[in-house]
Amino acid sequence: MKNAEIRLAEVEDARSILEIYAPYVANTAVTLTSKVPTLEQVVQTMLDIKKHYPYLVCTRQGEVVGFAYAYKLRPHEAYRWNADLAIYIDPRFQGKGVATALYTALFQILKIQGFCNLYAVITIPNDASVALHHHFGFKELAIMKKSGFKLGAWHDDLYMELKIPGCCDPGTFGAPLPMNLLNKNELATTLAMSTALLDGSPQKVGQ
Ligand SMILES: CC(C)(COP(=O)(O)OP(=O)(O)OC[C@H]1O[C@@H](n2cnc3c(N)ncnc32)[C@H](O)[C@@H]1OP(=O)(O)O)[C@@H](O)C(=O)NCCC(=O)NCCS
Repeated sequence: MKNAEIRLAEVEDARSILEIYAPYVANTAVTLTSKVPTLEQVVQTMLDIKKHYPYLVCTRQGEVVGFAYAYKLRPHEAYRWNADLAIYIDPRFQGKGVATALYTALFQILKIQGFCNLYAVITIPNDASVALHHHFGFKELAIMKKSGFKLGAWHDDLYMELKIPGCCDPGTFGAPLPMNLLNKNELATTLAMSTALLDGSPQKVGQ
């Protein structure tokens, strides 16, 4: 078993993903989802997302400690080069570079696929998430004031945007590649390089 790893999510990870996600849904406005999904819904969402977008987990000693994925922003064909983002880290493992490693892999895979614009919609205040997205070069676009009502209160949403530097020209390369057409070696190299960012990875330990 690897000490620490960034890898593609599998159906078997769904229970751990739900365990990380459920408290954020039930007790906070970090996500404006109001009802904790069932295990079956987490699996189905994962299977749908995995066809077109990367869905990643970070493991430590084989345990899933965080996950991140991209998904469709809006249904229109013209928005195919855009993606919305989700990232959740187990509170016991926050502040240790897990999100950094997950996002590094996620954004590189999205770039290889041919995506151009990434969006994070953050219920504010959420200093950690806003700082994380600034850290990766996202710019603040707009605040939708009192746009979500959850847990008895209105909440504001901050939209943040990253234009992926050097993304492929859609006019030349067409729509983003589905996940199953990605070059396997390139994918493996991207995941290995992100794993190397984690404390406890063989590369980081041996630096
Ligand atoms: C936001 C979140 C994903 C960050 O994950 P993490 O693994 O703790 O982040 P990292 O350790 O990789 O930190 C990366 C950068 O994010 C910023 N950051 C992370 N946590 C922070 C905090 N508590 N306060 C301020 N900045 C923070 C820093 O810029 C940090 O870089 P630095 O260490 O060089 O200063 C995590 O706090 C989390 O899961 N929060 C709850 C769920 C959530 O808010 N998801 C996003 C919904 S929009």
